[in-house]
Amino acid sequence: MSRENGQNIKVHLTEEQINKRVAEIGAEITERFKGESVYLVCILRGSIFFTTELAKRIDLPMEIDFMTVSSYGAETVSSGVINVKQDLSGSIEGKNVIVVEDIIDSGNTLSRLLQLFKSRNPKTLTLCTLLDKPERRQVEVDVDYTGFVVPDKFVVGYGLDWDQKYRNLPYIGFVEE
Ligand code: IMP
Ligand code: MG
Repeated sequence: MSRENGQNIKVHLTEEQINKRVAEIGAEITERFKGESVYLVCILRGSIFFTTELAKRIDLPMEIDFMTVSSYGAETVSSGVINVKQDLSGSIEGKNVIVVEDIIDSGNTLSRLLQLFKSRNPKTLTLCTLLDKPERRQVEVDVDYTGFVVPDKFVVGYGLDWDQKYRNLPYIGFVEE
């Protein structure tokens, strides 16, 4: 247990555990796309640390791009509506797109993003999430790579925030009530 900004955070996944798993996913993606190049899409801001760590573990020619979609401020429940605040800077047509997300909760964000990306005709579309909270799913999403399945509790750290706080924690933890 560590105390950050007045809240108790219970460590769930250490930096070592996360980085080990990220390296495994990176190796799988490297194998899967051998001889090709990939277009990594970081969904800001939550997947910033996951994306950079994963990118270093993928041994392929790569472009990295960013998209900002709306998140839910101080609330901890998804509204089901996504709003693209900042779009990709490049075209994904004909490319091996790998969407990198921090966490799939209801599945609303990713399922909508998926539709949007499909409409832009990538060569392949791969979904990669660091965390998955399957108990909370409202919309089915086919995920290709999952780092860890987590229980139905609010998690922070390693990019994930609680009202914009705790993103910089090097581990993933639960906010204690
Ligand atoms: P979904 O649309 O409900 O799947 O929500 C996905 C987004 O909600 C994620 O990309 C996160 O930004 C945010 N989110 C969901 N659960 C958590 C959590 O436990 N901690 C921090 N952010 C979360
Ligand atoms: Mg997110």
